[in-house]
Amino acid sequence: MRLEGKVAIVTGAGSGFGEGIAKRFAGEGARVVAAEINTQTGSRVVDDITADGGEATFVRTDVTDTVSTKAMIGAALDAYGGLDILVQNAGMGMKPMPMHETPEALFDKLFLVNVKSIYLGVREVVPVLKDQGKGGVIINTVSTAAIRPRPNLAIYNGTKGALVPMTKALALELAPDKIRVNGLCPVAGDTPMLDDFLGDGDRNESYKRFVATVPLGRLSLPSDVASAALYLASDEAELVTGVMLEIDGGRCI
Ligand SMILES: NC(=O)c1ccc[n+]([C@@H]2O[C@H](COP(=O)([O-])OP(=O)(O)OC[C@H]3O[C@@H](n4cnc5c(N)ncnc54)[C@H](O)[C@@H]3O)[C@@H](O)[C@H]2O)c1
Repeated sequence: MRLEGKVAIVTGAGSGFGEGIAKRFAGEGARVVAAEINTQTGSRVVDDITADGGEATFVRTDVTDTVSTKAMIGAALDAYGGLDILVQNAGMGMKPMPMHETPEALFDKLFLVNVKSIYLGVREVVPVLKDQGKGGVIINTVSTAAIRPRPNLAIYNGTKGALVPMTKALALELAPDKIRVNGLCPVAGDTPMLDDFLGDGDRNESYKRFVATVPLGRLSLPSDVASAALYLASDEAELVTGVMLEIDGGRCI
């Protein structure tokens, strides 16, 4: 029980990596707030956790919205009386296209969902963690896209790239309060988002092309990302802050 007694919010908990993280955290004793824009999937994950004997609450959350983000933090405090861990995982992908053909509206949406959401979450959670005075953990789901970008995903890469200095600068800002801030950098993962990245061509061919770029020979799974998040969230990572933890089978070497 590596998260016994901890309260954790996981955004985008209804699918993919977020679902994996929420379930693993609950299995390790955390009380979990599953924050998700999709009521159906978010509720299903909470039902699964409860059925397995864990403790979780669903809070419908739009991480791009100030009021909704504030309510998400408030819901954790109301339900569990405190907050220790915020995993900012919700995000969106894009279909491959050259940068110069990427529509402006898509550019704006990607930066809203993948970057502004991180700022909004930080704005709400930091005062709470500071007031509690017992440290805390913020984990941002970044991506290998920030470190070793693929062509035709330039704007998505840019959103994840922005999170590297944001995460590192925040780690420095919050170190005096013993609040650790780290990033997860998974390689392309077997989640619903993958279909965006694979594009509209032959799925099997695109999938094989992606796998061929990973020295260890497979894409990432929610369980891989959940294991990394668990380490960063736990007290075992007490001296770890400001890192971009690659979960990538060697893709970024
Ligand atoms: N799948 C990959 O290849 C890959 C690789 C590296 C990083 N990532 C990142 O991992 C994170 C999770 O992605 P995933 O692959 O699990 O995708 P996913 O599509 O399976 O899950 C994303 C979840 O976020 C939720 N979401 C989207 N917008 C939201 C909003 N405004 N408010 C609240 N929830 C919202 C979705 O409803 C969905 O449940 C994302 O930040 C993504 O960019 C994905």
